[in-house]
Amino acid sequence: VPLDTFNTFRIPARARRYVRVTEPGHLAAVATDPALAPLPRLVLGGGSNLLIAHDDVEALVLHMALAGKEIVGTTDDAVLVRARAGENWHAFVEWTLAQGLGGLESMALIPGTVGASPIQNIGAYGAEVKDRFHSLTVFDFADGTTRTMDAGACRFGYRDSVFKHAEGASLVVLDVTFALPRAWTPNLRYAELAQALAAQGSATPTPRQVADAVIAIRRRKLPDPAEIGNAGSFFKNPVVPREQCVRLLETWPDLVHHAQPDGSEKLAAGWLIDRCGWKGRHLGRAGVYPKQALVLVNNGGATGAEILALARAIQDDVEARFGVRLEPEPVLV
Ligand code: EPU
Repeated sequence: VPLDTFNTFRIPARARRYVRVTEPGHLAAVATDPALAPLPRLVLGGGSNLLIAHDDVEALVLHMALAGKEIVGTTDDAVLVRARAGENWHAFVEWTLAQGLGGLESMALIPGTVGASPIQNIGAYGAEVKDRFHSLTVFDFADGTTRTMDAGACRFGYRDSVFKHAEGASLVVLDVTFALPRAWTPNLRYAELAQALAAQGSATPTPRQVADAVIAIRRRKLPDPAEIGNAGSFFKNPVVPREQCVRLLETWPDLVHHAQPDGSEKLAAGWLIDRCGWKGRHLGRAGVYPKQALVLVNNGGATGAEILALARAIQDDVEARFGVRLEPEPVLV
């Protein structure tokens, strides 16, 4: 099965074995099939956080296409909404807004699926999935059971969760439930967003207005995967000890950094890459997006190996100049 339309980098890889999962029973069937059960697995959602480095994917590709979304209940202070793993994330955010529910608006227009959203704890403009998370359902290939996990069990971190680690390797997300606040207040911690809303004269914006402002910022700064192959931010923003940040500031006074609650400092990887002169440059058919250095793009026909070569060159340059090794954000296959 060709995977080029199933990964937003548009890498022309092929899956040797592919299952389109439209009901949870398909996973149980794989788990009990003597030929399929022992194979390594690649769980594929929207393919927006993935770099396939080989022409042929050897793993069994499980393409999550479970559909459906609904309001499932209420608590004292929240409305619980649930969507199945294959639902498009942005369409789901739009649907919650159409129900009059705020809470996910900062994460409008993030590519990918609902099932993928907790895996890397997606986030933007001062909000992360973990802030609105209630629980999720997984199928466990280790014992063939289905169970519910709360936020603690998911071990969310910055673009991280248990699902990206060995302990979570047997788990496949079937659906996710979010707790959306009845008493919504805008999260305007992110200066660029606050300024955009202020410029519109929205002093007390609605969730819809915040979503529209986020959509406008993203359209301005980030390439649309439908037009230019990419996987969003290619690197995580590195977190360094405070002393290292202070030393860097002596040489680079305009270094972009944000103090973390634990005293460490998060650096803007886009700024580091930009200062190395990579913005807008390319290596073969792989390029650095001219409007945001953190995003690597497929300028047409690039292989996964070409994207990786560009990523390595950037990592080496940033490390040589700043002493910081950038870590890729997408899953490398
Ligand atoms: N910057 C530069 N040059 C660049 C790019 C950025 O100097 O080429 C500077 C900017 O001026 C800014 C700072 O770096 O001062 C941070 O840039 P920006 O505000 O665009 O955010 P980011 O750190 O690049 C993160 C997330 C994005 C998310 C935005 C907004 C990560 C890895 N990325 O990007 O998430 O949309 O904040 O909240 O945390 C994603 O994960 O795929 C993603 C797009």
